[in-house]
Amino acid sequence: MSVLIGGGTGFVGRHLSKLLKDKGYKAIAVSRKPGKERVTWADVKKNGLPEDCKAVVSLSGRLVLEPFKRLDDAYLKDLYDSRIEPTKILANAVSEAKQPPQAFVTISGVGFYPPSEKTSYTEDSEGGSDWLAKLSREWEAASTLPDTVSTRRVIVRSGVVLGPDGGMIKQLLPVPLAVYLPMLPIGSGKQWFPWIHVRDIAGIIAYAIENDRVTGVLNGVAPQHVNNDDFTKSFCKAFKKMSYGPLFVPGLAMNLVYGQDRAMMVLQGQKVKPERTLEMGYEYCHPDIDSAMHDISKAFLKGN
Ligand SMILES: NC(=O)c1ccc[n+]([C@@H]2O[C@H](COP(=O)([O-])OP(=O)(O)OC[C@H]3O[C@@H](n4cnc5c(N)ncnc54)[C@H](OP(=O)(O)O)[C@@H]3O)[C@@H](O)[C@H]2O)c1
Repeated sequence: MSVLIGGGTGFVGRHLSKLLKDKGYKAIAVSRKPGKERVTWADVKKNGLPEDCKAVVSLSGRLVLEPFKRLDDAYLKDLYDSRIEPTKILANAVSEAKQPPQAFVTISGVGFYPPSEKTSYTEDSEGGSDWLAKLSREWEAASTLPDTVSTRRVIVRSGVVLGPDGGMIKQLLPVPLAVYLPMLPIGSGKQWFPWIHVRDIAGIIAYAIENDRVTGVLNGVAPQHVNNDDFTKSFCKAFKKMSYGPLFVPGLAMNLVYGQDRAMMVLQGQKVKPERTLEMGYEYCHPDIDSAMHDISKAFLKGN
């Protein structure tokens, strides 16, 4: 059977495709560019879902933390359009399929919850009201299906995805030699850092596809809560970097790189519990940061 993955060419999509192939599925990416094992968005609009489609996954989205960009109207529109339009195209294809797929799994982010050092959030918590929360809310709403469609709808609110070949680690270590550069906590270092290993975000999506009882929102974060300081220590230990004692990257530097609107994503954080994810029975490959970072550094230093 096949699984259609919008944004399947990206970091999470590549790991999910590999996992699904290992389980015997045919993974088909939906991309802006044609290619092997891919279809384009125009193909999906014209032809609908592939035959024998077990599930549809929506992962498309332009990077939110592009350095040295300003969150102007054009960039914000692209952040919305690159998420909401593809999700709506997939929701429409699911709704119109003669044989509806069993599951429609869409990703969103923990930016749905307001940053706070004190509050713990579960899947049932209220969302925030800043620009990122609004974007997340509209993104999630774009995956709404008519009541008449039997397909299970699952939303995975992802934390920062950590893996050797993409996402944040790739930004921190753009070239192998960067492992020799210092790594410092950001701002106070006390802000929560909701994280997940890429194997687990792919694992949660695959679990949602394969288990009939999984519906609704799942927090895609690891069960161990760490703050930015804990993450930095674990990163330094795994990559055998020196710890630089009381030094830190000041918030001002983050404001210069990302602008104030987006710097809040790294200077503040959310304590997010994967309550329903655990209740639904998902078992993590890397539930704690040291195991995750050890695995990632091993793969990174081997060249993935
Ligand atoms: N990585 C994280 O830490 C993290 C955390 C929370 C949420 N998320 C969300 O999870 C999803 C997958 O993350 P990822 O790290 O795999 O992202 P990624 O590597 O940047 O890939 C996302 C895919 O989205 C498509 N895309 C990029 N820019 C686009 C644009 N302007 N218009 C239309 N499509 C565009 C691309 O597909 P084509 O080039 O093939 O069209 C790309 O392969 C994203 O939506 C992201 O926002 C990620």
